Amino acid sequence: MKENIKEVLLSKEQIQEKVKELAQQLMQDYKDKDPVFIGVLKGVVVFFGDMVKNYSAPCQIDFMWISSYEGTQSKHMEVKHDISADIRGRHVVILEDIFDTGNSLDFVFKHLQAKEPASLKICTLLDKPERRNPDVTLQADYVGFTIPNVFAVGYGLDYNEHYRNLPYVGVLKPEAYM
Ligand code: IMP
Ligand code: MG
Repeated sequence: MKENIKEVLLSKEQIQEKVKELAQQLMQDYKDKDPVFIGVLKGVVVFFGDMVKNYSAPCQIDFMWISSYEGTQSKHMEVKHDISADIRGRHVVILEDIFDTGNSLDFVFKHLQAKEPASLKICTLLDKPERRNPDVTLQADYVGFTIPNVFAVGYGLDYNEHYRNLPYVGVLKPEAYM
C-alpha cells in the first residue's frame, strides 16, 4: 500500500491534532445540547471514530448511506440506509470525510433538514473548494483542512475501495491507478 503513495498530504500527527481541536470546538459549541453526530458512510468511519473518542460529553451517533446513479439527464442520489434516530428538535452535526463537488452533502443536508432538527451543521475533515459545483451554496461550519484539487486516499478515503485504512492522507502515484 505504502509503495503506491507519491506524497503524504496530511500526516497522522497533523490529523490527530486537528481532530482534537475540532472535537474541542464542538464541545464548546454544543455544551449541554446532547448533539446527534451523523456520519455519511463509508468514507467518514475513521474520522468519525476519532472525533467521538475526543468528544467527552453526552452525544448520540447515527449513520446514513447514500448512493448515486446515472440517470438519463444527470446524476441522481438515493438514500440506501437512513438514520434510525428521531432527530426532530435535536441539534445535529453531519460529519463528512470530504466536501468535494458538494453534491452529496447538499443531498444529505436537505434530506436531514426535512426531519426538522433544531439545528443542522456540517463538520468536514477535508474541503476541496476548487471542485465545488457552482449550484451548491452550502458551506461547511467546521473544516479540518482545505486541500488543493488532488485525489486523496487514506484515513477513510478510498480508491476502488482500497487505502481507507491508512492512518494518514496521501496522494497516489499515477501507476497505482492502473
Ligand atoms: P462530493 O463530490 O462532494 O459529492 O463528494 C462525494 C464523495 O466522493 C465523498 O464523500 C468521497 O467519498 C468521494 N471523494 C471526493 N473527493 C475524493 C478524493 O479526493 N478521494 C477519495 N474520495 C473522494
Ligand atoms: Mg464520503
